[in-house]
Amino acid sequence: MNRPILNQFPFGLSRREFLGASSGAACLLATGTFAAAQGGASPIEQPPLPFAENALEPVISARTLSFHYGKHHKAYVDNLNKAIAGTEFAGMSLEKIISATAGKADKAAIFNNAAQTWNHTFYWQSLSPKGGGDAPAALKKKIEAAFGGMDACKKELASAAVTQFGSGWAWLVLDGDKVKVVKTGNAENPMTQGLKPLLTIDVWEHAYYLDYQNRRPDYVVAVLDKLVNWQFAAANLG
Ligand SMILES: [Fe+2]
Repeated sequence: MNRPILNQFPFGLSRREFLGASSGAACLLATGTFAAAQGGASPIEQPPLPFAENALEPVISARTLSFHYGKHHKAYVDNLNKAIAGTEFAGMSLEKIISATAGKADKAAIFNNAAQTWNHTFYWQSLSPKGGGDAPAALKKKIEAAFGGMDACKKELASAAVTQFGSGWAWLVLDGDKVKVVKTGNAENPMTQGLKPLLTIDVWEHAYYLDYQNRRPDYVVAVLDKLVNWQFAAANLG
């Protein structure tokens, strides 16, 4: 059955494709969900984790992943499907829902759950049991041009993640042809600002509190040293 599922990898969108999503089919074509969207109001699905729940230990415990993926992420997906049932958004791709509701106060509940659904799937892909280390050559070249080196890039990502006040996300994004670091609050996603996400770090407390309590900096540094998936970020360059 064709469904607008997330694991059809909706992460290769260009700025033009995403910003055009609310008015055209380019986004749907780009994400491989065009046929699915034509098929009617199928629910948004939560794709499986790309690794075992204990695969990120000791940096992120199986217990954290069990709650984070199994409760928090799942709740965003479930709440989104409830919120869009019977509305104009039922059957739309996730990216199109995000694009169509961003910045609209009366659609905040749908936007928040849609963006959190997307952000979490992107976050799982941004992590790898074999992460850390060096970025692939094409990305490394852009990182060196923008930051001076991998360590400086990681330092800037860590700073964004640690200084995000309250809940939110730190991102490596593509702004035109240049990579840069941004942070967003709550469910916000850089796509709505015309930026292309390359990787993200979840800094909501539920991402680290069971393992690190209030020590967000320790979680962030460990993720950047051991888990960050530079291959995924490089693939998102397009
Ligand atoms: Fe989260």
